[in-house]
Amino acid sequence: MSKKSGLPLGIDVGGSGIKGAPVDLKKGEFSGKRKRIDTPAKSTPDAVGDIIGQIVDHFDEVRGDSPIGITIPGVVTKGVVRTAANIDKSWLDFEAETMLEQKLGHDIVLVNDADAAGVAELHYGAAKGQQGLVILTTLGTGIGTALIHNGVLIPNSELGHLELDGFDAEKRAASSIKDNEGLTYPEWAERLQRYYSHLENLLWPDLFVVGGGVSKDAEEFLPLLRLRTPIVPAQLENKAGIIGAAHLAQEYHDSQ
Ligand code: BGC
Repeated sequence: MSKKSGLPLGIDVGGSGIKGAPVDLKKGEFSGKRKRIDTPAKSTPDAVGDIIGQIVDHFDEVRGDSPIGITIPGVVTKGVVRTAANIDKSWLDFEAETMLEQKLGHDIVLVNDADAAGVAELHYGAAKGQQGLVILTTLGTGIGTALIHNGVLIPNSELGHLELDGFDAEKRAASSIKDNEGLTYPEWAERLQRYYSHLENLLWPDLFVVGGGVSKDAEEFLPLLRLRTPIVPAQLENKAGIIGAAHLAQEYHDSQ
């Protein structure tokens, strides 16, 4: 990247807010204060695109050649959103990446939110330098997962939707369920135990990284788990999605 190039921008599209920041990829840090705008009530690709446009305009570090990485809480293949468990259904099967490129005039990479967080933790956080298989899980409204093998992301793993005791796993073990059902940490940890045991018996990972807002309270529940796989909290907190999206966007831009 030449000195005059703009910095990549990472944007995290969530249920309540759309957040973005330019990212210094050498340091793995935001280079400016994060900008957040409420997610519109009807969060169609067009409405979300308008807000992303406002976030792009907000930052001087973002120039015409700045690539933009955008996280989506669903499966994304070839720039098309394929599942929408927790976002507006109008994203489904829509050529969102192409539409956003035309609308914003930047190279755009759309990526699953957990995959972006996994890439950030791999390069700058809890999974830095880790060989073998890393599984990052984000515990939030749902459960997102990222699979990374020897530093290579295997996208769209969707292991939050494994069946657990007859339920979709995220409907039993996401942190939103802990809150909604008023579970104590030990009660919730029993469900996490079932979930992570199931995952490690299927995939035999070398490391679990646990992200999502609740990971700041990791000492309340991670020590209660009995697993053969080391399990550690994520390090980049709610910055991981933005940093990982920017990283992937720059990587894609440089490969063109
Ligand atoms: C979605 C995933 C997403 C996760 C976290 C799940 O419901 O299926 O794609 O990564 O929520 O937002």
